[in-house]
Amino acid sequence: MGSDSAKQNAARAALEFVREGMDLGIGTGSTVDIFIDLLAESGLRPGQVVSSSDRSTRRLEGHGIEVSELNNVAGLDLYVDGADESNRLLQLIKGGGGALTREKIVAAASKRFVCIADHSKLVRALGDFPLPIEVIPMARSLVARELTRLGGRPSWREGFTTDNGNWILDVSGLNMNEPIKLEQRLNNIPGVVTVGLFALKGADVLLLGSEDGVERIDSRRDG
Ligand code: A5P
Repeated sequence: MGSDSAKQNAARAALEFVREGMDLGIGTGSTVDIFIDLLAESGLRPGQVVSSSDRSTRRLEGHGIEVSELNNVAGLDLYVDGADESNRLLQLIKGGGGALTREKIVAAASKRFVCIADHSKLVRALGDFPLPIEVIPMARSLVARELTRLGGRPSWREGFTTDNGNWILDVSGLNMNEPIKLEQRLNNIPGVVTVGLFALKGADVLLLGSEDGVERIDSRRDG
């Protein structure tokens, strides 16, 4: 669990990527909550703002920031979101908060993805954090059996329903040596809505906060 000041430092650094009038995508989580508060305090006026969760929408609107439907926006300049794990290639595991589907959609609609996290989220190899997978409820057992066949240990996040009305399986034990191939393989299981692996399209910039500052890592794809 990262400290608040580490998250604060990462969130503050992300604010430097925001320009007046930019169309923004906003992710979900405690680090993004801090970013939303800083954005509101900054007085910067973005263009259209699209949110990845009901939770972030409530927080944005609480600050008087209007939230648009993605369908009404041609594309977004910048997406700011957290992560549960990142490797040095900026491939991510996301979905600890259960907002992975909308996060993946808003990230896909954005020109640039700046990921904000405390330093504890940087890992040598992905996979200590159980991989969240959003599934259509009727397919839960089918998908779980398929994940077990692939060497995973799925656990149903009981009592949790996503903003899209679906369920989450948290999967441990999958071999993540080839994250892109794994993401493609899992995407093909019938009943899977979204895999919380962001490897096909990871972050472009990772801002890792610590108590005394921020480390910036750029994706090799970014500039
Ligand atoms: C939400 O579904 C996740 O993808 C979050 O981005 C992730 O859980 C990060 O949250 P924190 O900023 O609270 O660590």
